[in-house]
Amino acid sequence: MINIAIFASGNGSNALRLIEYFKNHSSIQISCVFTNNPSAGVIQKAKENAVPCLLFNKVQFFEGNAILASLSKYQIDYIVLAGFLLLVPKNVISTYSNKIINIHPSLLPKYGGKGMYGDHVHKAVLANKEIETGVTVHLVNEEFDKGKIVGFEKIVISKNETLESLKQKVHEAEHRILPHIVEKIVLERD
Ligand code: GRF
Repeated sequence: MINIAIFASGNGSNALRLIEYFKNHSSIQISCVFTNNPSAGVIQKAKENAVPCLLFNKVQFFEGNAILASLSKYQIDYIVLAGFLLLVPKNVISTYSNKIINIHPSLLPKYGGKGMYGDHVHKAVLANKEIETGVTVHLVNEEFDKGKIVGFEKIVISKNETLESLKQKVHEAEHRILPHIVEKIVLERD
């Protein structure tokens, strides 16, 4: 079995989609969820699906080897960042070189980088009167949203688009593409 850990800081709808998609998979499983946020919705979603969820604080995340030790305990092969708001530390990136996958709610490189997350992205897209946006799946390196792009889906912005309608379109696209791209990357490599 190839073991995937999901890192998430929020609601966890993408995490749930991954958990459900890989539930009866023959060679890939979601083995645990890591979160830095004690009130994240993802905690309940993991619990309901009997996936272990590990809560950590910033000291544990950024100092020492606590995260690597936990990843090793669960024999994690790949990490998926699904709405994870902290920069992944260097020791984790070098241990999991090209094995960390992130989903971003815009067509990178547009609307990426520090501070560009959640509603900030969609508000900027609408304020600039873009005619299209999208979602991007990329490998993670030491800079926010700068790693190799491994998949994307474009979304047409309608004339009367609102923040809420755009968020919904983006989430639907994320849920559609993320499990398939993760599966493809993992199976092509192993
Ligand atoms: C998604 O829009 C994802 O692209 C971004 O954070 C959001 C997480 O949503 N990185 P959810 O917690 O999976 O619902």
